[in-house]
Amino acid sequence: MPKSIDAKNNRPQAADTLAFFQDLEPPANDFLQDAVNGLSATPKNMSPKYFYDQKGSQLFDAICDTQEYYVTRTEIDLLKSLIPTLNKLAGPNAAIVEYGSGASVKVRTLLEGLDHVSSYLAIDISRTHLINACRVLADDYPDIAIGAICADFTAPIVLPPMSREKGNVVGFLPGSTIGNFAPKEAGAFLARAAKMLGKDGSLLMGVDLKKDPAILNAAYNDKQGITAAFNLNLLTRMRGELGAKLDQNTFCHKAFYNDDQGRIEMHLQSETDQTVHLDGQEFTFSAGETIHTENSYKYGLEEFAALAETAGFRAKHSWTDPEGLFSLHWLEVHTE
Ligand code: AVJ
Repeated sequence: MPKSIDAKNNRPQAADTLAFFQDLEPPANDFLQDAVNGLSATPKNMSPKYFYDQKGSQLFDAICDTQEYYVTRTEIDLLKSLIPTLNKLAGPNAAIVEYGSGASVKVRTLLEGLDHVSSYLAIDISRTHLINACRVLADDYPDIAIGAICADFTAPIVLPPMSREKGNVVGFLPGSTIGNFAPKEAGAFLARAAKMLGKDGSLLMGVDLKKDPAILNAAYNDKQGITAAFNLNLLTRMRGELGAKLDQNTFCHKAFYNDDQGRIEMHLQSETDQTVHLDGQEFTFSAGETIHTENSYKYGLEEFAALAETAGFRAKHSWTDPEGLFSLHWLEVHTE
């Protein structure tokens, strides 16, 4: 048995290879409780954070490679083009802290491009995906202290000493992850992040822009059906992990831009009248009824800067790609 596998729970252990590891993984029980609550609500809903088990994380990575999902490649190109600018803003020996790090692909552009990064702390809810990604980073960047916290990144998190030792603390929240929050919640998250990063801290954020709804609708309805599989994986998880009794084939993926709300909505739509059994309870669906699984808010440049300012940041810089599809914002913690 490799020494990195814990005999008791058969899960990878990280303490052996990483400079820092903290396990704040939410208990499995939260998923059951949240599923029961979500199916009891009107309209029915589930938090998108439950998309990201091992399989869901893989499907998300595959979405990022689809032709229609412009977000990832546009952001990476923009990030690369901004390296000299970001280098000046971050200063030497930056301590990067990433919220919702996933496969930690984008951050490589910073780890390689900035003038010596001293440490990288990855925060993600998908434990195995997180540890594997950080191990690879630790191998690839032996001069950078690599640490990880398994947590819902909206949980209260205290930065470890390794993130306070050298240069400026630079938070990183790419991919328009912030879009999953309603603007009010996004503001609350930003206010907490400002406290966590501390004075002299800054936050580099990727934010998807409002645009022609046809482009948005295509991005969440890729022709290969990968986004559909990603959405439907939530039902697979409910069956496999929570013992829900339901027929996945009677649900379909539905995603559309809601112009009034400025957001993409994803739903799982029941094609028939049916009853789902979960935790000894019955949940009835009428044909066409949905479980609302995700919101992905889109912002104007100024609109997002204003939100950040109300949350305790100075919105210092923002940039977009030439087509105006996606934006990056450089926010600095505002201290009197
Ligand atoms: C990871 C939340 C940024 O909203 O675009 C992609 C998730 N959902 N396709 C997004 C997602 C469907 C993604 N975020």
